[in-house]
Amino acid sequence: MALTIGVPRETLPGEKRVATVPEVVEKLIKLGFSVAVESGAGDAANCSDDSYRAAGAQVVEGAAKLWAGSDIVFKVGVPTTEEVGLLREGGTLIGFVWPAQNPDLMQQLAAKKATVLAIDSLPRQLSRAQKMDALTSQAGVAGYRAVIEAANAFGRFFNGQITAAGKVPPAKVFIAGAGVAGLAAIGTAAGLGAIVRANDTRAEVADQVVSLGGEFVKVDYEEEGSGGGGYAKVMSEGFQQAQREMYAKQAREVDIIITTALIPGKPAPRLITAEMVQSMKPGSVIVDMAAERGGNCELTEPGKAVVKHGVTIVGYTDLNSRLAKQSSTLYATNLFRLTEELCKTKDGIIDVNMEDDAIRGLTVVKDGEVTWPPPAPKLPAAATAAKPAAAPAQAAKKGHGHGAASEPMAGNKLAIMFGVAAALFWFVGANAPAAFLAHFTVFVLACFVGYMVVWNVTPALHTPLMSVTNAISSIIAIGALVQIAPPLAGGMPPDQWIRWLAVGGIVLTAVNMFGGFAVTQRMLAMFRK
Ligand code: NAI
Repeated sequence: MALTIGVPRETLPGEKRVATVPEVVEKLIKLGFSVAVESGAGDAANCSDDSYRAAGAQVVEGAAKLWAGSDIVFKVGVPTTEEVGLLREGGTLIGFVWPAQNPDLMQQLAAKKATVLAIDSLPRQLSRAQKMDALTSQAGVAGYRAVIEAANAFGRFFNGQITAAGKVPPAKVFIAGAGVAGLAAIGTAAGLGAIVRANDTRAEVADQVVSLGGEFVKVDYEEEGSGGGGYAKVMSEGFQQAQREMYAKQAREVDIIITTALIPGKPAPRLITAEMVQSMKPGSVIVDMAAERGGNCELTEPGKAVVKHGVTIVGYTDLNSRLAKQSSTLYATNLFRLTEELCKTKDGIIDVNMEDDAIRGLTVVKDGEVTWPPPAPKLPAAATAAKPAAAPAQAAKKGHGHGAASEPMAGNKLAIMFGVAAALFWFVGANAPAAFLAHFTVFVLACFVGYMVVWNVTPALHTPLMSVTNAISSIIAIGALVQIAPPLAGGMPPDQWIRWLAVGGIVLTAVNMFGGFAVTQRMLAMFRK
């Protein structure tokens, strides 16, 4: 018989998210499940009871009835003792659990003979797991919201403007930590027109920072910051000293700092000292996303926005609830993708397949037996190095298609290629007619110059480059001009047809020429700050 998925109203104070939204309810029903939602569960995320009903869910009054009638419960916040009490004996729970931080909860769940899938324990390094990665989806929303909070507390525009009343410089934003939340913040702040700089201890994120419109600021100290699995490690004292100097310099220069630095299982690294806050311009803003873990800034007060030394320090720990509809929709989609994996037969029955690396990783209790921590997943060597990066960062990175091609080629392969090319040129030179040779030389030189020009242009500027070369190609207008010119003394007057064709040619190439340059100008203007 098809199982019922239940979605209770969240009970943690300030939690506005809901574990599924009406659009996703429809998809769950298509998978064969029945869906029950507690009345009012989606109110704070703009999902009314009626909208759930319209999507095919049953709306149930009261938590007790909802939990009692559900085979599987979808939740956002870590369940409370009361909620575990309401869970059916042998029921399934899917949501955030944080097993390492909540050993008592794990025992309570095991005592209920429950099966618990902790979405926070998903092996994020598996590429197949990305669609279920709720940590990424939530951090992405929170990073966006952090910029919006900063903009709200900041007394100026983000973008530079030239108005009749004077010139406004663009805001300067510094992002500490370019993980999922940091990259989302970079993209958002750059999108609003600010000058964005970012730093991370993992040098490999520099490309992603640049592709999202930021500038990567390096610490003047050589040390590998990657601790494996795409996460950071604690850095040496020498590095930390050099990093503090760089951060102090940035604090004096920028208007807004957003900190997202985190090392899993460790307290948040202290990156912004009280002196750095003091050195910032009055009216500056710090958004400390790591507030819940003690904060990246010394003066942060978790959950509050405070003003110290004229700087607003925002330490909100509920950034996702401040964008409840968006966070809920993405979270609901992550849980739906997980449900798809659990119910490949599409008949409303789940199979918690412990042979599947992704499912094994997030199953922390199975039929009352604690199965956390999981054994290390069997990963190919290359996959372990992959960082579970934000989706926009990956999309942006795809634009840099020539990365692999520019890798140094093996020495002997290069020598063979040179040898073959030299032999080919010799053959052409020895056998081809002289007239051909002249054209061929120009052609080869043009290829060489073209290659050097294109390859040395930043990939982001390839589109304006194409439009300008397109404009330059209108040089063919000269051919048409020659045709239209009056005959030389004694020469044959050109055929009228040819003349009119040439006129048409000139008109079309003129459009190409002026249009091409105009488009290029507009495109380049977008890159200028
Ligand atoms: P992540 O692990 O993807 O990113 C953290 C980044 O910080 C990594 O790239 C890491 O290399 C970098 N980092 C670590 N130590 C550093 C150091 N000393 N200097 C510079 N960079 C350093 O984590 P994610 O998902 O982006 O989350 C970021 C933070 O935001 C976390 O603290 C998380 O708890 C918090 N968060 C807060 C929310 C809120 O409502 N306030 C909501 C969601 C996330």
